[in-house]
Amino acid sequence: MNIPKHVAIIMDGNGRWARRRGLPRKAGHIAGAKSIKSVVLHCNKIGVKVLTLYAFSTENWQRPKDEVDGLMKLIKNYLKNMRSYLKYNVKIRFFGDLSAFSEDMIDKMNQIEQEFSKNTGMVFGIAINYGGRDELKNAAKKIAFLEPGRNRRANG
Ligand code: FPP
Repeated sequence: MNIPKHVAIIMDGNGRWARRRGLPRKAGHIAGAKSIKSVVLHCNKIGVKVLTLYAFSTENWQRPKDEVDGLMKLIKNYLKNMRSYLKYNVKIRFFGDLSAFSEDMIDKMNQIEQEFSKNTGMVFGIAINYGGRDELKNAAKKIAFLEPGRNRRANG
């Protein structure tokens, strides 16, 4: 079987999933979060090298406050239970602008990355507070602050 090296998933459709069942949007997010583990374990089992999950975008902050609060609660809960992944030998990486999250969430994410760093299996990347515009802005900032001469070809 031809297994892709990198699988990236945008967590979309939670609202539609809930609406079709006559449930509140929140129920869709809960079901979405619950489904993550089986996807991670399956990808790891079949030999995917990197799984990236786009979980919460910079635009998602614009949603109603109770929805954002609910999502933060879900993410916090998820972080709390992540040690259960240790035995699957996956590495965990968080990316996005993490500075927007509470200090305890940032500490937890750092702690998780550290705890999983010796694992050698699939890399499970979770993008939270990610955004195309943000990434372009950050890349431009990094380029602007590069030392002179860096990133240039020796004779170019
Ligand atoms: C889009 O659904 C999904 C989101 C805005 C957030 C999904 C994130 C979680 C459930 C948090 C879980 C993350 C972790 C790391 C545990 P939508 O409401 O836009 O649905 P629609 O496309 O059907 O409208």
